[in-house]
Amino acid sequence: MASGAERKALRKLQPGLPAAWYRDPAHHDRELEAFWYSGWIAAIREEEIAAAGDWRVVRVGTQSIVLARGEDGALRAFHNTCRHRGSILCTKESGRFERNRIVCPYHSWTYDLEGTLIATPRRMETPDFDKADFPLHTVAVDSWGGFVFVRLEGKRKLELGGMPDRFRNHRFHNLRIGKRIVADVKANWKLLAENFSECFHCPPVHPELCRVVTAYREAGAWGLRGAETIPEYKAGARTLTPDGSARIPPFKGLGAKDRETLYVPWMLPPNLFLNVQPDYVNSHMMFPTGPESVRIVYDWLFEPAHMPRGKDLNHYTALWERTNAQDARNCEWQQQGLQSRAFLHGVYVPQEFDCHRFARWIRKGLRRAPAD
Ligand code: FES
Ligand SMILES: [Fe+2]
Repeated sequence: MASGAERKALRKLQPGLPAAWYRDPAHHDRELEAFWYSGWIAAIREEEIAAAGDWRVVRVGTQSIVLARGEDGALRAFHNTCRHRGSILCTKESGRFERNRIVCPYHSWTYDLEGTLIATPRRMETPDFDKADFPLHTVAVDSWGGFVFVRLEGKRKLELGGMPDRFRNHRFHNLRIGKRIVADVKANWKLLAENFSECFHCPPVHPELCRVVTAYREAGAWGLRGAETIPEYKAGARTLTPDGSARIPPFKGLGAKDRETLYVPWMLPPNLFLNVQPDYVNSHMMFPTGPESVRIVYDWLFEPAHMPRGKDLNHYTALWERTNAQDARNCEWQQQGLQSRAFLHGVYVPQEFDCHRFARWIRKGLRRAPAD
């Protein structure tokens, strides 16, 4: 995956994952267990719940999770399910809990921001009732770089691979959202991950991106064949915008090499994809909504001191907005083609080495999963 691992072309063709894995509901359930319910999932940006009592709901597979900021400033996450008889607690996407109380909309059982049950109005007393028996079910939560992660089950700590090291000087935790786009895409989540993992598709699909990242005209083979005949970026380009021009300075703290590296793609499977430029980040948080659909939250992140506005903001969002839409459209077309009864699996060509790596990660994760 585009995760800082070695770029090395495959020496022979490799088979893709079975086509049925991209559409079969029973298989999708296995993947939810293996990757989405037992691993760390990027959920929101910290700034979305900046103050005590702020909350936000995210959906991971069939699960609805409430993330909230406590009175002590800590991040907490709960299943969005009341301990009385199971109603959801938060019926909207986000808000602030009045008086820092979580009140169920059904019979008004009331919890504090730590998930402790503190009131059950109008309930007739019985000797066997103890509020302490009914706290909200918690979900593990952690954060890095301003991204908040949740994990529904399991004990593993948040593992970020080489990401914190690679982007230490970018200081992602300082960045704030300048623009957000939420898109529902009719494609299996793995297609989006594979799409992010290769640039074989760049020349036909992303002419605008190839104008700035000139290396991508070589369809993912640049840097793999030795002596390069074309430069990596358009001459004079400073960042990834339609013409390569910058209107804000690079992130404070970046060294010369990072300032000249106009683009670093990074994927933290299963659901966080980063397009990192010297002066902004375009992040994708992906959530499966079914075997053949995902919701993607695209954010454009900037240093608050240099937050672009109006036309400047459009200048900074235009290229990835276009490119992300192209990718989503192609993944939808691929999802349609994968319905064919004649198509059993695809094939990875040499420069799709990161798709192959992802496919191996999927197979390994499924082997680890509890049996059906
Ligand atoms: S289901 Fe929540 S109070 Fe009854
Ligand atoms: Fe793409």
